[in-house]
This record gives sequence, C-alpha cells and structure tokens, in this order.
Amino acid sequence: ASRKLLLLPGDGIGPEAMAEVRKLIAYMNAELGAGFETEEGLVGGSAYDACGQAISEEDMAKAMAADAVLFGAVGGPKWDGVPYEVRPEAGLLRLRKEMELFANLRPAICYPALASSSSLKPEVVEGLDILIVRELTGGVYFGEPKEIIDLGNGQKRGIDTQVYDTFEIERISGVAFELARTRSNKVCSMEKHNVMKSGVLWKEVVAQTHKAKYSDVELTHMLADAGGMQLVRWPKQFDVIVTDNLFGDMLSDVAAMLTGSLGMLPSASLGAPDPKTGSRKALYEPVHGSAPDIAGKGIANPIAMIASFAMCLRYSFNMVDHADRLEKAIADVLDQGLRTGDIMSEGCTQVSTSDMGDAILAQ
Ligand code: NAI
Ligand code: MG
Repeated sequence: ASRKLLLLPGDGIGPEAMAEVRKLIAYMNAELGAGFETEEGLVGGSAYDACGQAISEEDMAKAMAADAVLFGAVGGPKWDGVPYEVRPEAGLLRLRKEMELFANLRPAICYPALASSSSLKPEVVEGLDILIVRELTGGVYFGEPKEIIDLGNGQKRGIDTQVYDTFEIERISGVAFELARTRSNKVCSMEKHNVMKSGVLWKEVVAQTHKAKYSDVELTHMLADAGGMQLVRWPKQFDVIVTDNLFGDMLSDVAAMLTGSLGMLPSASLGAPDPKTGSRKALYEPVHGSAPDIAGKGIANPIAMIASFAMCLRYSFNMVDHADRLEKAIADVLDQGLRTGDIMSEGCTQVSTSDMGDAILAQ
C-alpha cells in the first residue's frame, strides 16, 4: 500500500526538527521497504513570505489528499505585523477546519530517565503514560452567539456559547474508547454536569455510547475541576481522559507539565474515518511552537517531532511495531544520557538537534 505523507515544516525550529524525521523516513524507505511517498509544503510565516497566505491552495489540496500530514511549528516575531487573516496560526487553523480534525490526542509520557528532573515528585510521574483526548472542533471556542455587545450604559457584555450536539460527543467518545482498547482499557470522561447543560448531555451521551458499543472498557466520570486536581495529585490513576475543547485545552497543558520539557511532547489530530475505506485524515505535530529564541542554532530538541511521527506510524498506518521501536529508541537514548539543552541535567551529555536525531535513528 502506498503511504502518502505531506511534510509541512513551517517556521523557526519547525524545519530543524522535521529534518530529523526526514532521516527516519529515508531509513524506513531504504532499509525496511516502508514505501512512504513524501511531498513538501509551506505553512505559516514561510508560506506568507512565498505566497501571501498562511497556506497556499496547492498545499491545502496536498493535505486533503495525503494519508497523514506532519506539521512542524509556525510563527515568529518576523510576522507579528501581518494581517490577522494571514497570520501564521491561520495556516494551522485552516488545516484543522478543512480536514475536520475533531479529535486531538495529547499523550503525557514520563520517560524513566527524566522522572527525577520533573517538577513533581519522581514517584508521582515515574512510568506515567496517559492520553488526553480533547474535542477540537466544537464547544465554547466555536459556538454562536460569540460577540461583545455594547449595553449602552457604559457596560459591555462578552458572550461565548458552549454548544455540543449528540453526534459530536458520540464521535469523540468513540475515539477515546477505541484508543483505550489498545492501551489499559480505561476511560475517564470529564465535564461539569453539575453546572452546565452541555455537561449533562456530555455525560449522558458518553455513558450511552459506552453501553451501546464499548462496555468492555472501564468507564468513569469526573468533574473537570476535580480532574485537574487529580492529574496533579496522582496522574497514574488515569489511562485515557476524554473531555471537551475548553477543559481539554487546560487539562492537556497541565498534563504536559507533568512530563518536563515542551520539547518532548507530541500530538495527533484525527478526523472521522472514511465510511468506505476506514482511513481518516490526520495531522501530527509537536506541542511546542517555533521557539524563535533558539531557532537557527541547531540546538532544538527534535524528540517532540520524532514522537509525533511515532504517533503517525501507530494511528495512520497501523505500524504498531515500528511505533513501539521508535518510542523505545527515544527512551533508550535518554537512558544513555544524551540530552538537548532544554532537558540537560548533571552528568548527561549535551548534544545538538542533529546528533539527537542520529542517535535515535542508530538506536
Ligand atoms: P514555544 O513553544 O515556541 O517556546 C517556548 C519555550 O520553550 C522557548 O523558550 C523555547 O525555546 C522552548 N522550546 C520549545 N520547543 C523546544 C524544543 N523543541 N527544544 C528546545 N526548547 C524548546 O512557545 P512561544 O515562545 O510561546 O511561541 C513562539 C512562537 O511559536 C510564537 O510565534 C507562537 O505563536 C508560536 N506557536 C506556534 C505553535 C504551533 O505551531 N502549533 C504552538 C505554540 C506557539
Ligand atoms: Mg493550550
């Protein structure tokens, strides 16, 4: 089967990190017959410089045709003054919208070698491996009405509207249950049914979906605020957490800090499966941004980008063994004491972006 990848390196450290993934793809094609067909495109500031848009129509079409998109990072001070509609982030938002990427997967994994450098107690994070599944295209970020009205008495009113329909809750919880079956078979759903109608519906639909199709998976419910507390107190109680757009934004950032550096965190955003082929649109990107402060120096940590590629192998191509081996290689290289600057600690060896990529490939 052909495997079509679109590489969108973007700006700042995006291209530096993507270069390390390109090495892995070349190796897998040459030595393992993986058959990846790659195309390249521009996104963010680099696309704006080339064509005045945050992503061109041609590259958008390539993204729609690809089996998976690998995305670096966008943005930087150079483009602070560009018009709002073509700002670098607009490229990513357009990809998410047109590819209908409703499910955002953010793993929080604590590699054993880094447990002692976490801001939390080592016993709290050691061996941590949880997955937050955040609804990405609905909820309060998109619901209408969304406006600021002038009340005429010197007062204004800011309005956002949280809206969820049954099908949106069904499909995101379906993704969470499916993923749980490939892991520790546990889902915790988080909402605020005590104060929100959308929360009441969320809880009800998750429970119905569970009963109808996934009763083999263990399901629990938690109020999202208590969930935030539990994530910090004892994160290992969770396997998969499923939650809405707003709570997921916050809870995944909290979970991120359990594991150390931004330079370590991958993510995946998935669309709905095609009813005919079963394949789904997907975009894989590191959680970090373009890191203008270190861009061009060859010192960025490529692990978030490489781990995003591992998620791509796992979720878009069902290459589970390869994904496992790649993730193990990352853990092994960290065990050997290799560190980029952002995760450097005493007694370890500091290496460049490209040395880190080479070491992971060799491993
Ligand atoms: P950032 O994630 O780019 O950087 C935050 C801090 O973490 C910086 O000190 C940076 O050097 C460090 N860092 C991030 N990734 C690293 C890596 N792989 N290795 C070593 N150190 C790393 O976030 P910031 O500074 O808030 O934003 C910079 C630019 O990136 C802005 O233009 C922002 O809009 C954009 N951005 C883009 C995102 C995306 O493309 N999805 C996400 C977040 C920010
Ligand atoms: Mg956020």
